[in-house]
Amino acid sequence: MRELFDFAAEALANFVSSEGEDFHLPPGRQRELGFTFSFPVRQLSIASATLIKWTKGFSIEDAVKLNPFAVSHVNDTIGTLAGGRYYHPDVIAAVILGTGTNAAYVERAHAIPKWHGLLPKSGEMVINTEWGNFRASHLPLTEYDQAPDVESLNPGEQIFEKIISGMYLGEIVRRVLCRMAEEAAFFGDTVPPKLKIPFVLRYSFRLDELILMKHLLNEAIASHSIIPSYMDKTDIEYFFENKNGWKKLGRDTVKEGDNQRSVIALDGGLFEHYTKFRECMESTLKELLGDASDSVVIEHSNDGSGIGAALLAASHSQYLKVEES
Ligand code: GLC
Repeated sequence: MRELFDFAAEALANFVSSEGEDFHLPPGRQRELGFTFSFPVRQLSIASATLIKWTKGFSIEDAVKLNPFAVSHVNDTIGTLAGGRYYHPDVIAAVILGTGTNAAYVERAHAIPKWHGLLPKSGEMVINTEWGNFRASHLPLTEYDQAPDVESLNPGEQIFEKIISGMYLGEIVRRVLCRMAEEAAFFGDTVPPKLKIPFVLRYSFRLDELILMKHLLNEAIASHSIIPSYMDKTDIEYFFENKNGWKKLGRDTVKEGDNQRSVIALDGGLFEHYTKFRECMESTLKELLGDASDSVVIEHSNDGSGIGAALLAASHSQYLKVEES
């Protein structure tokens, strides 16, 4: 853990030292840094957070308390939401579809039973849903999904994430390929030994190649009826927690004279490189929301989380300045 943060600090120091000679901070001002962390954190204040648990195959003993050097410490979905909102005031949710998957959205503060503090002036708060941890008996889990979960460091957790996200896609593909090699001599008489190494596809392929491979395999498998093709619509439906999420926000129907847009800031390699996934998402939205889906816009937010964290740091320090004066 120390090495990771040493590395981040060094990269930051290099960046600062590369600034032009004519750059000077105003007297009495410190630099303000935004920091996003792609793991679930308990937010103690904007500048301080503690790790709740590791996900995505990480397990590091050291306790993580994120407060030594940054003005804002937020989960990556919160950063993406803040960054997205800066560019489009209609952004109401942020979704990450990459190595892991998660979403954050803007909720009316009075509708949050867990919150016992003062209500914010805006009446709104952001919620990090950690939807990667979603599981339900309706989720179509195949044996190829179950095996990596059982053998993972956190069995029974992050099920939704494990069946769709970039971190696990390669492993699912490997297991399907292995079965095809064993039962249908897909690669000739012998199973390639490399294929038996868990997570080998994760390390030797780029995410977009893996995505393409899983897509091709799904099609091949579906047409040969070896196993059902389970990726696609069913997965996507869970993304939007069915219609209920939209109902909760009052955005599931079109009201007369209502031209309010609901923009979703979306980031991550899975969304960026897997066109079919994106198409499915759009058609499922249409199916779930009908005409109301016309007012839902998905915006790709490239590296939005880092920018969002920096903007949060900047706006927080402005707020402190106003409070002081
Ligand atoms: C994992 C983490 C979550 C993060 C997501 C996307 O699901 O638990 O905090 O937002 O990955 O990086």
